Amino acid sequence: CGIVGYIGKRDAYPIILNGLKRLEYRGYDSAGVALYDGTNIKLSKTKGKVADLEERVSKEISTNGSLGIGHTRWATHGVPNDINSHPHYSNSGNLVIIHNGIIENYASIKKELINRGYTFTSDTDTEVLVNLIEEVKKQEDVKLGKAVQIALNQVVGAYAIALFDRNKPDEIVVAKLGSPLAIGIGEDEFFVASDATPFIEFTNNAIYLEDEEMAIIRRGRDVKVRKIKGDEIVAPYIQELQLNLEQIEKGGYDHFMLKEIYEQPSVIKDTYRGRLLANQGIIKMSGLEDNLSKFTNADRIIIVACGTSWHAGLVAEYIFEDLARIPVEVEYASEFRYRNPVITEKDVVIAISQSGETADTLAAIKLAKQKGAFVFGVCNVVGSTISRETHAGSYTHAGPEIGVASTKAFTTQITVLTMIALRLANVKGTISQSDYMLQLRELESITSKVEEALQSEPKIKEIAQVFKDAANFLYLGRGYNFPVALEGALKLKEISYIHAEGYPAAEMKHGPIALIDEQMPVVVIAVNSNHYEKVVSNIEEIKARKGKIIAVVTEGDTQVKQLADYIMEVPATPESLTPLVTTIPLQLLSYHIAVMLGKNVDQPRNLAKSVTVE
Ligand code: G6P
Repeated sequence: CGIVGYIGKRDAYPIILNGLKRLEYRGYDSAGVALYDGTNIKLSKTKGKVADLEERVSKEISTNGSLGIGHTRWATHGVPNDINSHPHYSNSGNLVIIHNGIIENYASIKKELINRGYTFTSDTDTEVLVNLIEEVKKQEDVKLGKAVQIALNQVVGAYAIALFDRNKPDEIVVAKLGSPLAIGIGEDEFFVASDATPFIEFTNNAIYLEDEEMAIIRRGRDVKVRKIKGDEIVAPYIQELQLNLEQIEKGGYDHFMLKEIYEQPSVIKDTYRGRLLANQGIIKMSGLEDNLSKFTNADRIIIVACGTSWHAGLVAEYIFEDLARIPVEVEYASEFRYRNPVITEKDVVIAISQSGETADTLAAIKLAKQKGAFVFGVCNVVGSTISRETHAGSYTHAGPEIGVASTKAFTTQITVLTMIALRLANVKGTISQSDYMLQLRELESITSKVEEALQSEPKIKEIAQVFKDAANFLYLGRGYNFPVALEGALKLKEISYIHAEGYPAAEMKHGPIALIDEQMPVVVIAVNSNHYEKVVSNIEEIKARKGKIIAVVTEGDTQVKQLADYIMEVPATPESLTPLVTTIPLQLLSYHIAVMLGKNVDQPRNLAKSVTVE
C-alpha cells in the first residue's frame, strides 16, 4: 500500500492526489482520502484506482483543507471494496487513519473492543487499530501521540500509519514498523509518504523513520520523533534527497515499463560508472573492498531474494561459481526464513532487492544476521530498509523503477553481481589475467550491445502480433540463460496474464513436452554458447511435436535460424554476460503482447511493486 499526508498552508488535496498517483505502483485495489479544514472532515474512498477516486471526490466532497491523508491499497485483510478502503474513522468519528501493513493480532483486539461496545463497518485490521487508539485515549486520558504509542505496543505486525484527530487540527501522528515512511520537511509545511516521490517537487529534505519510531508532526512547528517502546526521544536525521522530478515521469513513453526498458543502456552504465575501470583492470566497490576477506574466506554464498530479484540471484549463481569458484545457493527469501536453515559465521548472505523493502527478504537477512552470517545487500532504493539492515552492500543505480514488472532493476542487479564475481575471481586467482581483462572490457561495452538488442523492437512487435492470443507460452534456456527463461515467463505472466512457464531446456522432456502441440509458442534462448548444440537438439524435439519456435539467437546465426519459426537477434557476447542482452527481447515481447491485449502494463492486476507484507 502507499500512504501520503500533508499538513501546512496550502490545500492538501492536489498534493495528496498527485502523490497517490506516484505511489500507485505500491498497490491499486482501492484508494481514499480524508481532508480536514479545521471544521469538517471530508472523507471519500473507493474500490479501484486513484483515477476512480478523483472522479468520486469531484462528486462527493469539497476539497478545501490544509491537512489531509490519502491511501492507495493492496488488499491483505478484506476484499478490495469501498468499505474496506482507507482512510478509516474511529467509532466516535474523531480519529481518521491510513495504514500500510498487517496487524496480526487484530482478531483478539477486535473481540475485546466489541465487548466494550465498539462496532465495525469494515473487515480490516486497520479499523481495529484506530479504535484501539481511541479506546486507549479514552481509558488512559492521554494525548493522541501517547495513545498511539500505547496502542502500538499492544499490536503485533507491521505498519506505516498516519492519523489525525478532529480535536487536533494542527497535528498528524505517524509511526513505522516494517513498512517505509518518509517525512518531507518544507517551509512551514510537512509531507508524509511511503517514499519521497510524492513530495519531491516541494522539498529535498526528508526524515526516514526507522523501525519502531513514531513522529508527531505539528503544523508550522516541528517534527518530534520518538521510540515506540520506552520514552526515548530521537534527534531526527534530515537527509538530502537525490531524486528529481524527471526521473519519476514518463518522458514521452507510453508506459513506465517501456521507458525503463529503454533506460537500460544508460542505467547499466550508471551502475558501473566509477567502479569499473576496464583499461586499468580495476573493479572497485567500497562495500565489497571493505569486506573482501569475508567473501574470500566464505565457505559459500547464500543469495536470498524474491521475484525478479531471485532470478538475478540465479544468474549470479552461475557467474560466481563459474568465475570465482565459490559455492552458491539461491533461496526464495520466504522459504529460507521459515526453514530453520543451516547458516554459520563462514557464510556470506547476499540479499537482492530492488525496493529494499520486501518483507520476506528483510526477515531472511535478520535471521541470517542472528546466526552470525555476514550480510551484503544489493538494493536499488537508496536508504531503504534492507540497505540499512545489511552489514554492507552495493547499490544498483537504476533510478526509480515505477513499472510494476521489473526490468532495469534486473539488468543492473546482474551488473553489480557480475562486478562482484569478477573482483573476487581476480583476488582469488580463479580467472586468468587475460580473461579477466577481456571480461572487464566486455562488461564496459555491454551497454552498446543492449542498445543494439533494443533495435529489434519492430520485429519483436510483429512476433507479438502473431502470438498475442496464445493461451500458454513455454520459455526454455540453459546455463546462464535458464534464469533468463524464468524471467521471460514471469514478465509475460505478470503483465499479459497469459500462462507461461520457464524451464531448463533439457528438463523439458521430463514434463512440459507433454504440453507441446501446434498451438504452443516456445521461446528458446539459443545464443552461441557451450550449450548451443544441446539447445539445437531441444528445438528439434519441439519441432517434432509441431510447437512454434521463437528463438533468441546470436547475430549471424544460421543453424537455429533455419529451424525456428521466428527469431530475435542479439549481439555476440561472452557467455557470462549473455543474460544482459537476451533479457531485452523477452521484456519487449511481453510488453507488446500486453499492450496489444489492452492490459494495464504498468499496474497489472493483483500485483504490487513493493510487497511489505509476508
Ligand atoms: C514484487 C514485484 C516484483 C519484484 C518482487 C521483489 O513481487 O512485483 O517485480 O521482483 O516483488 O521485490 P524487490 O523489491 O525485493 O526486488
